[in-house]
Amino acid sequence: MSLTRRGLLTVTGATGMAMIAGCGRPEDGPGTGELVTSELPLPPRFQVELPLPPVARPTRVSATADHYTVTQRATEIEIIPGTRTGIWGFDGVFPGPTFRGRSGREMVVTVRNELPVPTSTHLHGGVTPAESDGFPTDLILPAGYSPPPPDHHGAGGRHHDTSRDYRYPLNQPAATLWYHDHRMDFTGPQVWRGLAGMFLVTDAHEESLPLPRDDRDLPLMICDRAFEADGSFRYPAHGGAAMPGAFGDVILVNGAPWPRAEVAAVRYRLRLVNGSNARRYRLRLERGALTRIGSDTGLLAAPAPCEDVLLAPGERADVIADFTGLAAGTEVTLRNTIGAGPADAVMRFVVTGPAADDSRIPERLGDVEVLHRGLAVTERQFDFRFGAGRWQINNVPYDPAGSLCAPRLGTVELWRFTSDFHHPVHVHMAHFQVLSRGARGPEPADAGWKDTVDVRPYETVQVLVRFAGYRGRYMLHCHNLEHEDMAMMANFDVL
Ligand code: C2O
Ligand code: CU
Ligand code: CU
Repeated sequence: MSLTRRGLLTVTGATGMAMIAGCGRPEDGPGTGELVTSELPLPPRFQVELPLPPVARPTRVSATADHYTVTQRATEIEIIPGTRTGIWGFDGVFPGPTFRGRSGREMVVTVRNELPVPTSTHLHGGVTPAESDGFPTDLILPAGYSPPPPDHHGAGGRHHDTSRDYRYPLNQPAATLWYHDHRMDFTGPQVWRGLAGMFLVTDAHEESLPLPRDDRDLPLMICDRAFEADGSFRYPAHGGAAMPGAFGDVILVNGAPWPRAEVAAVRYRLRLVNGSNARRYRLRLERGALTRIGSDTGLLAAPAPCEDVLLAPGERADVIADFTGLAAGTEVTLRNTIGAGPADAVMRFVVTGPAADDSRIPERLGDVEVLHRGLAVTERQFDFRFGAGRWQINNVPYDPAGSLCAPRLGTVELWRFTSDFHHPVHVHMAHFQVLSRGARGPEPADAGWKDTVDVRPYETVQVLVRFAGYRGRYMLHCHNLEHEDMAMMANFDVL
């Protein structure tokens, strides 16, 4: 992997494009990436009904845990009307089944791999013991694969089998999490093929709040894809050293292109997940009000009315969309104000008419302890930068057997993220609060407890990370999946 002229041009060229696309403000473009254009004519927007992924059901409930089994397999589904797309899906669906867990109630998920490739499944935002965290070399081998002798195992790999039990204690508050493949070097293409789904955690406190629930609580996984003429997914084959990130030209919500959903003229809770490989969104409702109630890993202390919601890859936003008072037939498009062309919208709501609504947005949502700088026992810097022909952290490529630091369980550290391009920075297991963004304070999208933060070109973002949970080896990385696959990851050991 040497720095090629072509590679460098690709990177700078793509960034130039992103800057132009974002109304002149470099931080407001779709991110760092390159548009993959579909060979298939793009379908008309707002025609397909919004699908909701199936909800996972336990196969066994014991005194201490709920057990689930999910099988990764290849199948064909209809994404673009009239065509078939081969996917790799958890239980053969895309997005995978939605898991609904309860704080403090352990969940054990057995993942079986019937795909032709190895996989590793990560619960993003989960406070998970290291052996269940989906480390990139903790592979589940494809069925029928004969493993190499032990001394040829990838460095850091701990178990190799055709299925694996992931243990999720879920000792964490109610939150909108998601899960996805995390295979070393192949996360980008494997997530693009469909290996991702939503995972909602609830708790007694959240259930006591008068928020919209049941069919007015909509999990919405947003991602972009491109398609070949035959309907198959199109993913850049050159995935080379300088791959800046893959943007698709079709925006999917729950796997459907620019879907439409009928809604009553009432409040809805939207669990927005950006499951895209590289694309950022700035989401705005054409009509009706948007109120932010939750961040990546839990409810905010208080609701925050917002004009729009910025979502970098990996980030989530828990929002209330209020359609109250809108006349039957009103169309409300969820726009993406930093998307060019067909990417300027995500989906459309169509109001059916009035209905009873006993939901409310309470003035206080939860107790969120605010971390202060003085709590930090140490400061560390992580520099996300293109160098030596690849995407790296602190000028070193990812080493699965290495570790950049060893924070102590129970402490808080100040971590400073610096960057050259757009890098959505994600920390496993340990959640954080944003302390500052450049010379300014946190922005609305930075509020509350987080696990992913949008770091923009030449920006310094400081976060206070609390190492609560488990000891062991975890990682931080760029959630632009093409950057992640190209070595922009690092391990840390919680002692
Ligand atoms: Cu959502 Cu390590 O990733
Ligand atoms: Cu994660
Ligand atoms: Cu990056």
